[in-house]
Parts: sequence; C-alpha cells; structure tokens
Amino acid sequence: MNHSGSTAATRQTERLAPDPGGIERAVEILARGGLVAFPTETVYGLGADATNPEAVARIFAAKERPRFNPLIAHLPSTEAARREGVFDQNADRLAAGFWPGALTLVAPASPACSVCDLARAGLDSVALRRPRHRVAQDLLARFGRPVVAPSANRSGGVSPTMAEHVVADLDGRIDAVLDDGMTIVGVESTIVACLDDTPRLLRPGGIPRADVEAALGRALGVGPSDAARPRAPGMLASHYAPRAKVRLDVLRLEPGDAVLLFGASKPQGLEHAIASRNLSARGDLTEAAHRFFHSMRALDETGARAIAVVPIPDEGLGEAINDRLRRAAEER
Ligand code: TXA
Ligand code: MG
Repeated sequence: MNHSGSTAATRQTERLAPDPGGIERAVEILARGGLVAFPTETVYGLGADATNPEAVARIFAAKERPRFNPLIAHLPSTEAARREGVFDQNADRLAAGFWPGALTLVAPASPACSVCDLARAGLDSVALRRPRHRVAQDLLARFGRPVVAPSANRSGGVSPTMAEHVVADLDGRIDAVLDDGMTIVGVESTIVACLDDTPRLLRPGGIPRADVEAALGRALGVGPSDAARPRAPGMLASHYAPRAKVRLDVLRLEPGDAVLLFGASKPQGLEHAIASRNLSARGDLTEAAHRFFHSMRALDETGARAIAVVPIPDEGLGEAINDRLRRAAEER
C-alpha cells in the first residue's frame, strides 16, 4: 500500500467483515496511517488515527473537504475521553447520561490532549464522542488511540447509513470499510459545547434537545459562543446535498418531482410523482431519522429533477431532520 503523495491515491478499498479478523485488519490499517470507514449507531464514519496529522490530512483529501473543519475524536470509554478534554459539571452530566451514544461533547482540550492540531483545526477545544455501536467500540478498544471520523461521504453530500453508500462515494479513495449493515439512529450525533457556564447546542442530532435539557436541568444556549468558533455542524449553509434540487414544506407537487413523505400526508399531485418514499408511515420521528439519508439517496438515484419534501414536525429527532433538510435545500 502506497501512502506517499498528498492527494488521495487510487487504491483498492477492502471490504471488511465486522468480526475479530476484520477489526484486526482495520487496526493495522489505522496504525500505519490509513483510512478505514466504520459503522457507528448514527452514520458511518471515515476513521483515521487522531494523533497522526498525515493520516488526518488524508481524510480531507479523500472527502474533498473545502477546508479543514475540526473533526470528532471517537473513544472507547469515558475515561479515555477525559484524558483528551477537560470536563466541567455539565460535561460530566451529559457523559453520564448519554454515553455511549449519539452525543458529541466539545470541551477545552486537556494539556495531555493527543488529538493533533490539524484534527482540531488549531482550536484549543476538542470534540469527543464515545459511540455505542459494537463494531465501533471493538475497533476503538483494540486500536487504543483516539480515532477521528467525519461522516464517510464526499464533502457536502448525503451522509452514509450503509457501507454501500460509503463505497458509492469513496471507493478507491480509502483503504477499507467495515460493513455492518444499516446504522440505527440514521442522523449524526447531537453536538453540545461545554466551554463556559452555558452549554450550547452546536448541532441538533440523534439525541433530542429536550432529553439533553432534561439531563442538564436547564435550557441549552443558542448557537456557538465566541469560544466555540468556528461553529459546529456541516455549518456550511449548503450541506447534506443530493444532486436533485430540494423543496421543503411541499403541499403540491410539480411535474418530475420525487417526493419524501412523512406520516399520512398526501400532497396534491402525489399520483404523478416519479418516485416516493415515506420516512415513517406511522409518523414516528425516530424511525424517520433512521431512514432519512438512505431515502434521500434513493430518491436522488431516480434522477428526479427535484425532491419535494412534505412538512416534518420539529419535535424530537424532527429538529435534526429539518436541520439537514434546510441545508440540503440551500442554493448552491
Ligand atoms: O454522528 C456523528 O457525529 C458522525 C459519526 C461518524 O461520529 N460524525 C460527524 O462528523 O458527523 P462531521 O465531521 O461530519 O461533523 C463534526 C462536526 C463538524 O461540523 C465540526 O465543525 C464540529 O463537529 N466540531 C468538531 N470539533 C469542534 C470544536 N472543537 N468546536 C466546535 N465544533 C467542532
Ligand atoms: Mg458530515
């Protein structure tokens, strides 16, 4: 395997089974600075050794990121996360309440932080997540160092909830993908910054805002503080974007539309839609999040001119879905 050169080299992407042999192979690849996509319960991540700046640079090359956003470091235990970041009382509560799980904490980097500067985009804070997925946990425990992992898709595109999505975007640009089927949660982690007295929601995600606020016993601050700049999420206005145009809150379809439905909604002209998917016929927002990115990809693959999306309630995981939809609909 040749890792010389600064661009993502063309190479064979290995498909690894989610068993001890596959995980061993993934660990070997990470240890020599390679890139391995792996499942978490939210979406598939594109993993690299967080302590190795050359490996981290390969992530940006493979994804064709327009700029170096800070990445989330994944850890096998809360104890390991505490070595990387300084936890205040709010961070302690959130880690106790939601880890392992779909929550990322942004905390001041500890003096001993091993996540390299490039992965932190030069910030004095660090984003930390302890995932729940069994394969992710095994990989992290065996590797023994933090693994940075953005979603394993080309920059700006739809996040991958299946290994097939990873391969469709990144085949030949990454060393391997650990395949364990479809992810459960379906949208990325909720990101909360604990950098000062006010914990702040940087990105809605797999843990509903209301659950986070209940655990904290207070409301989350709105938007990043100055300390949390540059802001979190695919905060680029246009993000999570399919090829097709995306129209939101649609009640009436136009010719050539593919349609994304929720619950029992029946927009006018539904019978003329060239394709349709229902995120959750029974109106369950958790099921809808699980299916969201996969459904967007499937509708996009029909070649439809536009994807029309019916209104989706903004409660629970609906906040994360609507956040992704607004970015997907942004002019680009
Ligand atoms: O569910 C997830 O969070 C997935 C899985 C693979 O863990 N990962 C993911 O990573 O969505 P990514 O790179 O697509 O999004 C990470 C976000 C970025 O938008 C980045 O701006 C924010 O986390 N972030 C990372 N470090 C930060 C920091 N120190 N301060 C503020 N925001 C930060
Ligand atoms: Mg992403």
